[in-house]
Amino acid sequence: MCGIIGYTGPLGAKKILLNGLACLEYRGYDSAGIALYMEDDSIQVIKKTGKVKALKEYCDQTVHKVSHCGIGHTRWATHGGVTDENAHPHRVGHVTLIHNGIIENYHELTEQFHLEGTLVSQTDSEVAAGVLNQLYQGDPLAAIRELLSFLNGSFSFCIMFDDQPGNIYAVRNVSPLVAATTNSGTLVASDLTALIPYTKDYFVVPEEKIVKLSPYKISVYDLDDNFTRISPEIMTINWDTDAAMKNGYPHFMLKEIHEQPEALKKTILPRISQGLPDFSDDGIPDRIFTDCSRIHIVACGTAMYAGMVARALMEPVLRIPVSVTIASEFRYENPLVDEHTLVIVISQSGETIDTLAALRLAKEYGSKTLSIVNVKGSTIARESDYVLYTHAGPEIAVASTKAYSVQLAALYLISCRMSLVRGKYSKEQSQAFLADMLEAIPAIETMLEQKDFIKTTSSHLMDQSDAFFIGRGLDYAFSLEGALKLKEISYIHAEAQAAGELKHGTIALIADDVPVIAIATQQHVLSKLISNIREVKARGAFVILLTKEMAAIDENLADIIIRIPNIDDRFTVFPIAVVLQLIAYYTSVAKDLDVDQPRNLAKSVTVE
Ligand code: G6P
Repeated sequence: MCGIIGYTGPLGAKKILLNGLACLEYRGYDSAGIALYMEDDSIQVIKKTGKVKALKEYCDQTVHKVSHCGIGHTRWATHGGVTDENAHPHRVGHVTLIHNGIIENYHELTEQFHLEGTLVSQTDSEVAAGVLNQLYQGDPLAAIRELLSFLNGSFSFCIMFDDQPGNIYAVRNVSPLVAATTNSGTLVASDLTALIPYTKDYFVVPEEKIVKLSPYKISVYDLDDNFTRISPEIMTINWDTDAAMKNGYPHFMLKEIHEQPEALKKTILPRISQGLPDFSDDGIPDRIFTDCSRIHIVACGTAMYAGMVARALMEPVLRIPVSVTIASEFRYENPLVDEHTLVIVISQSGETIDTLAALRLAKEYGSKTLSIVNVKGSTIARESDYVLYTHAGPEIAVASTKAYSVQLAALYLISCRMSLVRGKYSKEQSQAFLADMLEAIPAIETMLEQKDFIKTTSSHLMDQSDAFFIGRGLDYAFSLEGALKLKEISYIHAEAQAAGELKHGTIALIADDVPVIAIATQQHVLSKLISNIREVKARGAFVILLTKEMAAIDENLADIIIRIPNIDDRFTVFPIAVVLQLIAYYTSVAKDLDVDQPRNLAKSVTVE
């Protein structure tokens, strides 16, 4: 969702802002803009619908003077259509600002501050700029503090005032912001990808504090009467600069698919001690695993589908209820959680607003919370009782791939540790579980080597309007993510179905050539799934079957058969996920679509 970047320092601001916006493109956006504080003390705003590349070309033609201070924004439309006027920055009187989030009471504020007729956009953000302009009497801190007292909703702002050359003010409530002081100026941004080219040290802008960026220093102020200065906790990014580049791959998605073996090793290996899962370095005590009588997993999108796999894995072994709820539902449904529930929250970004709200609600209900998060220091990580970081590095493609695999790895580790400490697995069984799990890594590599063969599926999918994914048990849980992947980047309607449920409705949609992707890796239900495949085949479906090398299957059962190595049934999700990701990837490429930034989607969903 909306991306924010601010820079002040000795270097040219235009280039830094435009490069920063390019780094933030992956968040998803439909227009972009920058505001530059020029050397003659004027502020120049350039904003346009469309891509950052087009903005850059326009800026190169129109901005010739040097500026050392400015703010930039990519907008994902919420209030008001995709127009140049609605793009940020917004400039009202003395104030120029950019905003991520939603000001829920913008209608009331428009009336209260008599802004009707003065606004040029339909955005809630311009209303905030209008209010701030009226409150501003030459003291930025006082005006921003007063503005905050009027706002309802989530937001992060970067603000320049006409009479404050070289200074940028930033403030946030819920919506993310990070900042850094470097040898060549100070920066603030929505996320770390925009800071990586300049520094590894950064801090998370604390909520409800005001940050002032000057060319060589950043000051953070409390909102108390004296605006007391506070020192934020400095953190270090554990990613290298290459991590956020394509490194020769045509798309980030393909690069990230290939990074899965490495990401899994980084996530799993440091948590194995004497062949057993060990969270002592993560500070996660066993009592949260022994003291609960149920588990509730909450997440959105791909992370939620990782939770579905974990449910299918954990419940039969742990023999306690394991529920999975979409975070946006959980937060409004008076959920059945209490102090005896372990709530596991999964989020790649650690900033998804619904997941964050669900976490806060679970804490209110007295549950212990454990988050699985990829971005260090993100809000969800900071607010959970315990956090298990995944080590996927930055995931830039909107469609999640490596984050899914490492989320699964974290959940599998948790499942194993829980089974051990609750006496469901012996030490030997736990060691065998982990040893079998590690075999999934070479199995992924094997499937990556088969990518040219997997690519052949795209010619059968690219012209279709619908596709169906079927499986049973764990395979059904995997198929949910497979369908999501295909629909989000190829725009083919894709639906996952528990194979046994087909006959209760969905089979009515199966006709000649309709693609059915069948996942059959679970031995105990293999024969059942084969029957389901025969049923769709009899109705003309084009079947792409994903199964194990050893599976005794009639070669004529399916139109294409993709075989994965013979690893333990519990871990087939890892190579299967890679196959499903590649199928979606090559279909999107065959349709010549924007693989990394699919239409309407955002990487980090920071508004409801
Ligand atoms: C968006 C992204 C998905 C992601 C979901 C949850 O929809 O496009 O890839 O799975 O948000 O994001 P999170 O950061 O909480 O895992």
